[in-house]
Amino acid sequence: MNILVVGNGGREHALAWKLAQSRLTDELFVAPGNGGTVQIATNLEISATDINGLAKAVGEHGIDLTVVGPEAPLAEGIVDRFEELGLPVFGPSRAASRLESSKIFARDVMEKAGVPFAQGEWFDSVEEAHRYINEVGAPVVVKADGLAAGKGVTVAATLEEGHRAVDEAMVDRVFGEAGDRVIIEECLVGREVSLFVFADANTVSAAVTACDYKRQLDGDEGPNTGGMGCYSPAEFLSEAEVQELRDNIAVPVIEAMAAMGCPYKGVLYAGLMITNDGSRVLEFNVRLGDPEAQVVLPRLESDLVEIIDAVVKDRLSDVEVNWGSDPAVCVVLASGGYPGKYQIGLPITGLESVGRDTLAFHAGTFYDFESGELKTSGGRVLGVVGRGRTLSDAREIAYQGAEVIGFEGRQLRRDIGLIKEAVTTGE
Ligand code: AMP
Ligand code: GLY
Repeated sequence: MNILVVGNGGREHALAWKLAQSRLTDELFVAPGNGGTVQIATNLEISATDINGLAKAVGEHGIDLTVVGPEAPLAEGIVDRFEELGLPVFGPSRAASRLESSKIFARDVMEKAGVPFAQGEWFDSVEEAHRYINEVGAPVVVKADGLAAGKGVTVAATLEEGHRAVDEAMVDRVFGEAGDRVIIEECLVGREVSLFVFADANTVSAAVTACDYKRQLDGDEGPNTGGMGCYSPAEFLSEAEVQELRDNIAVPVIEAMAAMGCPYKGVLYAGLMITNDGSRVLEFNVRLGDPEAQVVLPRLESDLVEIIDAVVKDRLSDVEVNWGSDPAVCVVLASGGYPGKYQIGLPITGLESVGRDTLAFHAGTFYDFESGELKTSGGRVLGVVGRGRTLSDAREIAYQGAEVIGFEGRQLRRDIGLIKEAVTTGE
């Protein structure tokens, strides 16, 4: 099969790496790809949201299957368009992608599915939003309804911060129309975990977990980022607890979506808070996470092409989805200044010295064919992944790899995969 991966981040390099291992894969393409994907696939210079351009490339290159990495093309309807054209594509439809692109829609689905989520209300009136914040008090969480590139959530410790978040979204419109409606919800305390399953119209696969580090600095200090690292599996949940989360959250949500007339297909990613009163959903994403894909996919023992092809054909029940038990840790190497302003075009050295057991997934890199150098092109540059029999082995391998890779201004967190202290409630 000729396969196209859509996207250009570390997640897409990890997808391409895993797909390349399948005996079913002939030629592999990535659009637009990066300096890592170009080494294992053909990069096509087409933006991830240029749906017509991608469809044309599928015809030109005889592509049999398209795998969509990021949320933006899904929310814009790439799956609907490809299906109209008869092109096999992996991911949810535009209607089903609302699970991520509208948090209000997601709450509606969860209510119908009987799945627990944070208590709260949604508002399209600024005055009512402010009034509600005064009523419930701080701490409080303010969320833009729509896609806001991971920046739409404010966990406000004070009333003032909560009011400011409402004004930023609804008055200053810093997220554009994504912030015209906001959700104000209770602030939950507990341990966060991300849960992933594959799903088609009839079947939900076994689930796998990961934990990520969103803040820039060690000890969860500093501003939010796209993710400075992660590990899999969550060490604080047993295998039975993970499959219970699958049964009580992923399965009912997927069943509810089918009943609502927008069946879900693809990867479902549930962001959860495990509280003393049980698990609550914080958000859904309609794709693999980035950098979570970089730790989850290396743990997949089954053939990813077989799984994806089966999902597209609604035959997921015919294939095995087995997750290995060895943990994986991903340490992100980021540009100096990220998540603020940073320089790009800086040469990257040392990748050839990374140990053979270590995986280096590229995110913001490009291959400069003129100088023959690999250079930086984004905020998150590389994700270095170690695997081991234990979390601490995996962590050690990841950091050994991270250590030998250099570029000017390189920053990384030192505490990825260190077991966090359990958060206790009612301090
Ligand atoms: P999201 O973009 O929805 O994943 O939210 C970003 C982050 O905000 C989450 O990873 C949580 O750390 C935090 N968060 C979201 N909702 C809540 C909530 N109701 N209570 C506490 N923290 C939350
Ligand atoms: N790492 C979080 C996300 O991909 O949304």
